[in-house]
Amino acid sequence: MPKALIAGNWKMNGDIATARELAGAIAAGSDAHACDYLVCPPFTALTEVSGVLADSGVLLGAQDCHSAASGAHTGDVSVGMLTDIGCHYVIVGHSERRSDHGESNALVKSKAAAALKGGLSVIICVGESESERESGTALATVERQVVGSLPETSNSTNTVIAYEPVWAIGTGKVPTTAQISEMHLHISSVLENEMSDSDAASTRLLYGGSVNPENATEILRCSRVNGALVGGASLKAESFLAIGQSCP
Ligand code: 13P
Repeated sequence: MPKALIAGNWKMNGDIATARELAGAIAAGSDAHACDYLVCPPFTALTEVSGVLADSGVLLGAQDCHSAASGAHTGDVSVGMLTDIGCHYVIVGHSERRSDHGESNALVKSKAAAALKGGLSVIICVGESESERESGTALATVERQVVGSLPETSNSTNTVIAYEPVWAIGTGKVPTTAQISEMHLHISSVLENEMSDSDAASTRLLYGGSVNPENATEILRCSRVNGALVGGASLKAESFLAIGQSCP
């Protein structure tokens, strides 16, 4: 079993002072646990949080990147800019980017490929909508997203897949443990066609969507769940660290 990764996606929340305080509390409380921690603040707080986390063992990630190395891309941030300020990871293909910015699997794949080329690890997000779940096409949807978003250069050390059903994000609704296990085992078998057997077996698969300290224990025990991508509950050090302490 790969070591669990507990990742916090802070989304578009907080100012520099709150980011500094939150990162400091996570760094102070993190080293006793048997999982890796990653925090993904907004771009504006990355430099500050990078300084706070230095030597803490808590990893730093960004929430998006552009696929080009530099150039005329107003408002975008390149992979080199992220490694320059100490990022280890970048999230690509979050459902909020897929819906707010119309990001396709092909675009997500190009961002992931650029990130890997530039030395970042990636968390590639996938997940079905509520109507896809209800119509019985969840497995096929997620399979299409994984196959379409995964670069050829992905392996188990540079790539993490996060399964985040769109209908579970920020809603308090969580799939059953049977649904989570079924999807994670499906993603694992899809990876067997895309990677070497050993990479497919050891690529970390995170669950995301309304994870909190109360439901973390049962979610983190589901088949082939190797950690969590946490939104709301990552904005308080206490609840984020409690999720980490729930790792089996
Ligand atoms: P919530 O934990 O707030 O549901 O958000 C999940 C998410 O989107 C993490 O990327």
